[in-house]
Amino acid sequence: MARSDTDALSPREAALSQARWQAILETARDAIISIDPTGVITLFNPMAQEIFGYSADEAIGRDVSFLMPSPYREKHAGYIREYQKTGVARAIGRIREVEGRRKNGEVFPLQLSVGEAAVGDEVLYTAIIRDVTKEKQAEDQLRESEERYRTLFETTHDLVQSCDPDGRFAFVNAGWRRALGYSEAQIAAMDVFETLHSDSIAHCREVIKRVLNGATVRDVQVRFVAADGRVVEAEGHVAPRVVHGEVVATQGIFRDVTERKRADAEIAKARRIAAQRERLADVGALSAKIVHDIGNPIAGLYMSAQNIQRRLERDGSVSADSIGRPVDRILTTVNNLNALVSEFKQFLQEQRLDLVETELGVVLVEVVSVWEEEAKARGIAVRIAGITERIVVHADQAKLRRVIDNLVKNALEAIRHGPGEVRLEAKLTAGDKVRIVVEDTGPGIAEGVDVFALFETTKPEGSGLGLAIAKQIVVAHGGHLSHQPREPHGTRFVIDLPRRGPATL
Ligand SMILES: Nc1ncnc2c1ncn2[C@@H]1O[C@H](COP(=O)(O)OP(=O)(O)O)[C@@H](O)[C@H]1O
Ligand SMILES: [Mg+2]
Repeated sequence: MARSDTDALSPREAALSQARWQAILETARDAIISIDPTGVITLFNPMAQEIFGYSADEAIGRDVSFLMPSPYREKHAGYIREYQKTGVARAIGRIREVEGRRKNGEVFPLQLSVGEAAVGDEVLYTAIIRDVTKEKQAEDQLRESEERYRTLFETTHDLVQSCDPDGRFAFVNAGWRRALGYSEAQIAAMDVFETLHSDSIAHCREVIKRVLNGATVRDVQVRFVAADGRVVEAEGHVAPRVVHGEVVATQGIFRDVTERKRADAEIAKARRIAAQRERLADVGALSAKIVHDIGNPIAGLYMSAQNIQRRLERDGSVSADSIGRPVDRILTTVNNLNALVSEFKQFLQEQRLDLVETELGVVLVEVVSVWEEEAKARGIAVRIAGITERIVVHADQAKLRRVIDNLVKNALEAIRHGPGEVRLEAKLTAGDKVRIVVEDTGPGIAEGVDVFALFETTKPEGSGLGLAIAKQIVVAHGGHLSHQPREPHGTRFVIDLPRRGPATL
């Protein structure tokens, strides 16, 4: 069967060598086929018989081309001739992937390497052939399933990414690109950590480390940073991609939960506010009762103190110092208490608005006329900046007057002693709005004072209710009350109101 170079060996050695070769040929896991220079098969081992389905008897002596499908079959004789003529080999000395044809007609992929040996002046080609059908199938399957997944991934809204062990992107889906907005060029240049918010990097390093060790990590919370700087909140799973027992990539599927998180936060905030309101409503009801209950005793106290005062005036024998002064103090205190109670009552009052066409110029003049005299006595000017047009706003005139009155009162209290100025202004502004400004030359708002907060006051006799009430009234009108420092010193309060009144009424 096989021809080998045994000429120089003793008969025993030759027999041994022959036996060794035979054993190799019999047990080889590869097909081994030899042909002579004309292409005729001279050796066809058992594995060749198994792979191709021909017995040695059927194969030996035939031209080898019958083991090849077209187009190899037709070209093979030409290859051999060409090689013999030019020495340019196609198959010899390297492994090639070609196709074979079994007896039953099936064409299959094979790996082929061919060696050349000369025996005397005869040349012999030996091919070693491996059937790689299974490997090819597995590869095709892998490619196919990868393709399938990719198509699937392209249609999902989720963010899908596959990274090599160094964190470079191998694949990102359309959902990922849409959510984060990076260009192909950016993706190719970036690693996964460059897409993460600094909060997430340490955690993700840990996750990737575990995945590279073969674990699948579920419920991973990630903050991505999109190309435009937006933070994208995501949660999902990261799994290893294993090929031949080795982790070749980390694969993540994430869901964009930015909206959900925002909505959750808003719901939580709304709940907090509702709870706060509820508490405030309770406090309000309780306060209303207390205010109501102290209102009458205060009125009684006031009357009693006044009676004592009158009697003292009639009875000259009583010392003003020992009784008159204390009674005066009682009257002042009770007066203050009374003012506080009535201010508080107003605050508790429901803000039902009595809307009328209100001319701002008139309101400002009214307010100024109340304070003018007292201000002048203290060396403070209260003036209205030139109002050149008639500005009419749909508002509750009395309440609006109270707001402005409160602002002027605060302004005067801030300046305390002249020289100083309180300036009022009213004008139309963009968006069909009116703006009323009250500014003073006082020291400005003390640091850390939340002027609109209930009971916030820096004054010994203050109630801390004035601006809380003012704000409530302005907001009920659909307006906005704010303040800012005035240069070089002082404070400017600004009321913005929709000219046609609150939209909801
Ligand atoms: N024009 C102003 N200049 C400086 N501080 C002011 C001015 N208006 C209000 N404030 C500050 O805001 C606080 C709250 O004002 P307000 O609610 O009217 O209560 P009250 O006048 O009873 O203190 C004041 O105590 C004061 O500290
Ligand atoms: Mg005040």
